[in-house]
Amino acid sequence: MIDHYGRDIDYARISITDRCNLRCVYCMPETGIDKVSCDDILSYEQIVRVCRVLARQGIRKLKITGGEPLARKDVPSLIACLKAIPGIEHVSLTTNGVSLAVVAQELTEAGLDSINISLDTLDPDRYRLLTRRGSVHDVLLGIAGAAAAGIQSIKINCVPIAGMNDQDLVSLAALAQNQDIHVRFIEMMPIGLGKQFRRVEPDLLRKLLEEAYGTMELYRGKLGNGPARYYSLPGFRGKIGFISAVSECFCEKCNRVRLTADGVLKTCLHLDEGVSLLPALSQDNDDLLKQQIGWAIRNKPAKHDFASEASWGMERRMMSQIGG
Ligand code: GTP
Ligand code: 5AD
Ligand code: SF4
Repeated sequence: MIDHYGRDIDYARISITDRCNLRCVYCMPETGIDKVSCDDILSYEQIVRVCRVLARQGIRKLKITGGEPLARKDVPSLIACLKAIPGIEHVSLTTNGVSLAVVAQELTEAGLDSINISLDTLDPDRYRLLTRRGSVHDVLLGIAGAAAAGIQSIKINCVPIAGMNDQDLVSLAALAQNQDIHVRFIEMMPIGLGKQFRRVEPDLLRKLLEEAYGTMELYRGKLGNGPARYYSLPGFRGKIGFISAVSECFCEKCNRVRLTADGVLKTCLHLDEGVSLLPALSQDNDDLLKQQIGWAIRNKPAKHDFASEASWGMERRMMSQIGG
């Protein structure tokens, strides 16, 4: 479906839970968040119903997010249902990887096309400090499990934070050296707790990576459906990606909407715009659902407003309640 700005919206990010087994310092307060009650979380049936209508309106790619999506039961069965929807070409998952190892094989069997795993440092102590409760060992097992299960595309997501993991970024990039794994560096966005942390400038990071590994070449092929810009490094099997929403705004090419775990179709990551689909879901036929989705997509905002600090309070949700 084409929005008011001529963008083809063909990608939906579906948050299936706002819960998480970690408490990353830039994402969730130590004490957690006011969770959506279990009764108010969309059931898998409702999610599949929304995705069917989305597919009829031109959505081709689905990304399952959270919170931590694997904190919810039976994710492989949801993925199998989503893969079976006519028109859906690609289903992927973004996870913190902590409990991935045990479920990786089932995810492959369900038809998962690709997976993104969040990992901000390889240093066990700093991983613990950053996530407040995780073990980097579990994530490494998760990555190995995903590779062994044959998930076709594996990407690592790292958010560089000045003064926290900047000394770990060069060694993290090396995960892409000998394996077909892509490592992406995501610029910290001023959403939720992210406002309190200092970004690492992507240019500075590029310089550090080039000093360590050689000259980066822009990669012009397609990898995934997201906003990352990819580079090749000499001798590296995987690519290095940058998602720099603040310093290199990519809203002009935005192709996506988001569904929150409590049923809001959110049309911009930054702005509190969109529509609750709950009233439409309570009706038996899909006409109202289709109409509301169409209206929300057409009225998708032009761009984020990260540059204006005055706008930082516009979205009260934490990143874990949006799904990134
Ligand atoms: P693939 O490359 O297809 O796997 O998609 P992706 O990069 O969109 O997936 P992922 O869930 O791993 O998201 C990576 C980062 O990109 C997260 O920090 C997201 O918040 C950010 N991101 C994804 N979509 C958008 C967007 O539309 N706007 C902004 N500003 N950031 C986004
Ligand atoms: N800015 C940028 N990325 C963030 N993520 C969480 N919070 C932020 C933020 N404020 C990342 C996570 C995960 C992805 C889905 O979003 O680290 O990899
Ligand atoms: Fe799209 Fe909003 Fe992200 Fe911009 S900030 S790319 S408009 S979701």
